[in-house]
Amino acid sequence: MRQPWAVDYDPTQYLGSARHYLAGRPPYSAELGAVLAAELGLDGTGRLLDVGSGPGVLAVQLAGLFEHVTALEPDPEMLAVAREHAAASGVVAVDFVRATAEDIPRLGLPPMRVATFGQSFHRTDRIAVAEAVFSLLEPGGAMVLVVHDLDASRAPAGPGHPPIPDEEVQALISRHLGPERRSGQRPASWFGSERFEETLARTSFGAATIVHAPGQPDITRDVDGVISGYLSMSYAAPHLFGDRLDAFVAELRRLLESRTATGRFWDWPGDTAAIVARKPG
Ligand SMILES: C[S@@+](CC[C@H](N)C(=O)[O-])C[C@H]1O[C@@H](n2cnc3c(N)ncnc32)[C@H](O)[C@@H]1O
Repeated sequence: MRQPWAVDYDPTQYLGSARHYLAGRPPYSAELGAVLAAELGLDGTGRLLDVGSGPGVLAVQLAGLFEHVTALEPDPEMLAVAREHAAASGVVAVDFVRATAEDIPRLGLPPMRVATFGQSFHRTDRIAVAEAVFSLLEPGGAMVLVVHDLDASRAPAGPGHPPIPDEEVQALISRHLGPERRSGQRPASWFGSERFEETLARTSFGAATIVHAPGQPDITRDVDGVISGYLSMSYAAPHLFGDRLDAFVAELRRLLESRTATGRFWDWPGDTAAIVARKPG
């Protein structure tokens, strides 16, 4: 589904999710930085803008490839976690901007070598935002959209724990929230599913290229970690459950405890895909 109208940022999308994000979401490929450095010729100079940074996942992971990083994020709780994550990771050449991607033309940001969007581009007014990023990039710069890609390769052998029983968890979420997934005040489907490279082809960037970095095959989580993973999703964000949140978490915990003999689950996110769109040099 294509977006039927321009995006107004909805501040309830991730209400209550930020504290669960780093504890529950699978990381991107550990080799993502090396793959992007080779693809884009990154050498530690230039600036990175990480748009929709959430808790600073990409801003922190890629900081060493640039002189300076700007994490841009509209959700204040996410931005607070991003500050903590950067500080705990020793990333100091970083600033944090509370803004939406749509605000980029009005922020007076300096030219960027790279702008990343980690699982965030679909939440923006895509064509307008891509054009704003195109203007902001220095000549030869790149816009990079990062996602997990379960279809890129065959799942590896797991580390001996059961996979997360996602179908059963989705059924439990449906019992609590109804069959249609929401994201903040909208149906989750509102954000659309057009492939990013098709959207980018209609912008000044033109054709994009896709590179992959191998997923981490041995990510495991305990029951609390899996619960955090679901509460970090906009479709199962804590606020959606209202005063039934504790009941949902208790039921989810019972379900998960009954599905693992080891106390842990295997979390396979797939490879990490980077959709790379370049501004001519
Ligand atoms: C799925 S999280 C991704 C977080 C992080 N980039 C990552 O790779 O894990 C999506 C993020 O996009 C942010 N977001 C939503 N709408 C946005 C907009 N219009 N402009 C910028 N960021 C937005 C959300 O607040 C959220 O932190």
